[in-house]
Amino acid sequence: MIKIETMKKTRIWDLPTRLFHWALVLCVIGLVVTGKISGMALDVHAVLGYSVLCLVLFRLLWGVVGGRWSRFAQFVPTPARLRAYVSGRYASPAGHNPLGALSVLAMLAVLALQVASGLVINNEDNGFTGPLYAAAPGWLSDLAGQYHKDVGQVLLLILVGLHLLAIHWHAHRHNPKIVHAMLTGDQEVTDDVTPSNDHFAKRLLALVLWSICVAGVFWLVAPRT
Ligand code: HEM
Ligand code: HEM
Repeated sequence: MIKIETMKKTRIWDLPTRLFHWALVLCVIGLVVTGKISGMALDVHAVLGYSVLCLVLFRLLWGVVGGRWSRFAQFVPTPARLRAYVSGRYASPAGHNPLGALSVLAMLAVLALQVASGLVINNEDNGFTGPLYAAAPGWLSDLAGQYHKDVGQVLLLILVGLHLLAIHWHAHRHNPKIVHAMLTGDQEVTDDVTPSNDHFAKRLLALVLWSICVAGVFWLVAPRT
């Protein structure tokens, strides 16, 4: 018997994943602007940096217990899938494709390193020291400062640039509603695709996890007497 596949609007990105994404975009824009202004803007820069730390920690947890298509198990690319995707033999049913997944993981890693280096930074010109500066050996703080301003910043900007190019390319070649899906959560997919659970209880779980992340980061960066 031939199975006829029909397309159906399906919840792929749950609300917590969408909020995570757009909050991250706002924070990263704010961080680049305040980092360049430097001086007095560094206090705002640090708060935005702590917010990114909360977001990355939350996303790691959500990658384990979040909605189906936000889980790492669903999209972490295997070498075989990557090869198949690049040679045009693999189409993801929904969510991140294997190459996109790789860029998502790279962005999260580079963001985490950018925050970590900021936490131990010492900026003598502006009299700004990161909250964990005193706990780090001098050589590490110097290295972190160098990384933060040079390699880290460039890596992040390259990854974001590639991300935007990939979204633009995908919107033209495959799915004109790719950005729309990150706004509304819904994607037009074949009717055998299981939706992400985006119900009240799941959103409540996200709120609890988010609160834990915020409390942990508060504890980490609070001034020690
Ligand atoms: C600072 C800028 C940005 C950063 C750091 C960033 C980061 C990310 C991350 C981490 C994800 C994975 C989401 C997840 O699974 O949790 C993602 C996905 C996505 N982003 Fe961005 N993003 C940025 C800007 C944008 C902009 C401006 C747009 C739209 C114009 C956009 C559209 C999307 C879309 C559509 C996806 C889902 C891709 C897919 O279907 O596989 N992003 N982004
Ligand atoms: C993902 C998070 C972060 C991003 C994307 C980011 C990005 C940047 C950028 C683009 C600059 C400008 C570099 C330049 O061209 O001079 C900068 C500077 C700086 N950042 Fe961050 N940053 C982050 C987190 C943090 C954190 C958590 C702290 C400290 C708590 C911090 C402390 C600083 C300081 C002190 C400077 C000034 C360096 C200087 O002017 O010499 N950053 N950051």
